[in-house]
Amino acid sequence: MKNFFLAFSLIFSILLSSACVDKSATGGAPTGDGSGDIKVGVYGDLTGQTSSFGQSTINGIRLAVDEINAAGGVNGRKITLVSEDDQGRPEQATTVVQKLVNQDKVQAILGEVASTNSLAAAPVAQGARIPMITPSSTNPKVTEVGDYISRVCFIDPFQGSTMAKFAAKSLNAKTAAILGDVNSDYSKGLTQFFEQEFTKNGGQVVTKEAYTQNDPDFKAQLTKIRNLNPDVIYVPGYYGQVGIIARQARELGMNMPLLGGDGWDSPELWKLGGESLKNSYISNHYSAENPAPEIQNFVKAYQAKYNVVPDSLAALAYDAAKVLADAIRRAGGTDSAKLKDAINATKDFKGVTGTITLDASRNAIKPAVVLELNPSASKFAFKETIYPEGMSAPADTTSNANTMMNTNQMSNANMMNSNMTNSSTMNSNMMNSAANMNSTMNANK
Ligand code: PHE
Repeated sequence: MKNFFLAFSLIFSILLSSACVDKSATGGAPTGDGSGDIKVGVYGDLTGQTSSFGQSTINGIRLAVDEINAAGGVNGRKITLVSEDDQGRPEQATTVVQKLVNQDKVQAILGEVASTNSLAAAPVAQGARIPMITPSSTNPKVTEVGDYISRVCFIDPFQGSTMAKFAAKSLNAKTAAILGDVNSDYSKGLTQFFEQEFTKNGGQVVTKEAYTQNDPDFKAQLTKIRNLNPDVIYVPGYYGQVGIIARQARELGMNMPLLGGDGWDSPELWKLGGESLKNSYISNHYSAENPAPEIQNFVKAYQAKYNVVPDSLAALAYDAAKVLADAIRRAGGTDSAKLKDAINATKDFKGVTGTITLDASRNAIKPAVVLELNPSASKFAFKETIYPEGMSAPADTTSNANTMMNTNQMSNANMMNSNMTNSSTMNSNMMNSAANMNSTMNANK
C-alpha cells in the first residue's frame, strides 16, 4: 500500500512538473522581451484586517521605483508597477498572483507581507518561474518553496530567539506565557522558536494559549495566563489583535512586560492599544531613530512623500525594490532564469534595513533591533541591536554613535556560515544617546 502511494505520488509530481514546463511558451523559463518597460507585480493587503502592512509596502516600493525611474531606470528601462489587493487572504493571494503571472505577464513579483499569504502564492511564482522577492515574510518555509523565491529580511528562528534572549537576559524573566494565532504560520513559527531559545536559557514556558484573527475577545486566555502569573507574555501576532490583547491584559490587572515581533509594527497599533502598550518590547527590522545618514535620508524622503514615519514594512519594501533593480542590472535584463540567479547572488547590498546578503536558502542574514514601545509619544524607541552569530557590531562601538548605529557598515565576512538560532547581543549606552540625540532632532522639526 505504502509503495503504491509512493509510486503514485512520484508519477503525479512528474506530471505536475512537466505541466509547469509546458506552461511557458519557450518550453523553459520565460525569457522576458528584454526591452521596453520592466513590469513588476506587487501584491498585498491594501484592504482588510492588516491593511497598514500592504499600504506601507506599496508606499515603500513606489518611493524606490520613483527614485530608480527618475535616475533613468534600470539599463535604460523604466519600471512600471502592477499592484493587486489580496485583502490579506491566502486564497486571494494565490488568485492575484495567478493574474499577475498569466494576464499581466509581470517579470518579477514583490510581496507578500504575512508569511501565510506568501506561502499561498509562492508556488504560483515558482511554477511559472517568475522571481518573487518577499520584503517581509519571515517564516522559514516561504523560501523553501523554491529557487525563484527569496527575501530581503531575516527569518523567524533568529527573530524568535532574539526576543527569548532579551526576555531571559535583559528582563531577567524566568517564566513566560505565549499567546499566539493558530492560523498564522508566522505566529506558530515564532511560538516554537521563542520557546526553544527561552528554555535553552533556563526559562520555562508555563502555557501556550491560542487565538485566531477573528476573535474579538481574549479574556478567557488572558485569565488563564493571569492565574499562572508569568514574568512576561510573548504575543507573536499582528497589530490588530495585539492592540486589543494589550488593553484586555491591563484591564485584568496584568502589568508584566508584553513581548512581540515585527507583526506589531503599524501606526494603527497606538490607536488600538493606547497606554496599555507601556512596558512592551518587540523585535524588528530597523529603527527609524537610527541616525545613520542613509537611514535618515530614507526617512526624510518617505515622510516628504507620505507624511508619516516609515515603519519597517516600508523600509523592507523599499529595499526589496532596490535589490530587484540591482539584480536586473546585473542580469543584463529580465530573462527569468538569469534574473533569479542574480537575485540569489545578492551580496553586500547596502539597504536601509542593513546590508543584504542572501544565503544558500535565499534568506537575508541581518541583525535585528529590539524596540521599546512608548505609547505616549506613539513611538518605538530603540533599545538594542542583536546580531546573528558570526556577525559582529562594527569595530568602533564607543566613539562614534553613527558608525555603531549603522548596520550598513557591518562586515559580512563570516555571515554566510552563521547559525541563525544563535546570536550575540550588543547592548549599548551609546546607541541610546544617539537615539536621544535623534529624537530631539525630530522633535524640533
Ligand atoms: N514577518 C511577518 C510575517 O512573516 C510580516 C511582517 C513583517 C509584519 C514586518 C510586520 C512587519 O508574517
